[in-house]
Amino acid sequence: MEIYTAERLQSALSPRPIRFVESVGSTNDLARQWLQQGGANGAVVITNEQVQGRGRLGRTWFTPPGTALILSLLLHPPATALHQITMLGAVAIAEMLDQLGAHSVAIKWPNDVLLNGRKVCGILPETTWDGSRLVGVVLGIGVNVRIDFTGTDLAATAISIEPALGRSFDRVDLLKMLLASLDRWSAHLGTDALFEAWRARLQTLGTSVLIDQPTGQLRGLAESVEPSGALRVRDAGGRLHTVMAGDVSLGEPG
Ligand code: BTN
Repeated sequence: MEIYTAERLQSALSPRPIRFVESVGSTNDLARQWLQQGGANGAVVITNEQVQGRGRLGRTWFTPPGTALILSLLLHPPATALHQITMLGAVAIAEMLDQLGAHSVAIKWPNDVLLNGRKVCGILPETTWDGSRLVGVVLGIGVNVRIDFTGTDLAATAISIEPALGRSFDRVDLLKMLLASLDRWSAHLGTDALFEAWRARLQTLGTSVLIDQPTGQLRGLAESVEPSGALRVRDAGGRLHTVMAGDVSLGEPG
């Protein structure tokens, strides 16, 4: 039986500063407060249940108690590496899944990690500035460990680690692996090595895509990514578009 308490997490993750709450609106909010109070690089907020989780593009993020890794990591990166924070999260999660023995792990641009073609986690970085001074970044991560999506709108597109790999896991062990991977890749923030690790896992490249953007839909061939993380898409008329953010649906290989 998995024990997921402040005491166990504290001793497993020591000497890392952690704050554990049994239930919270959003771990990103607690982590942002901690940043303002001087929280150190590598400190982490963890919860067992998140009732008002935030997702990308203004969405909500669904997390029942006891079913997921829900954390927000405090980071103090150089401002020049801010564009790599989502790459960091995606690469670290993909690496953890590899270590668990998963075979089909990929990244869907910009930062959805897919297991067996379905989304297994969400990543939401939030940056705090004090005027022109970078206070820090909160890297919010939610990994589906045993969420049952049966009968929900997400049944066809989302997946959890345990049913996908056919085994049960202790979330404390998973957290240790994920944080170790985040620490390893944090050391490469701002380098080509992190960009290349992210790009190498991008299944979006070379496929035809449909992208929902605030300005409308874009259809074309995803040709490449820029070091900034932007996606280059060529439309049917041959025009090249540089896309910074959006939701991608994958089409047939181009
Ligand atoms: C996405 O829409 O794909 C991103 C979802 C990010 C969810 C995580 S869970 C921990 C952290 N706290 C939040 O409120 N959101 C992030």
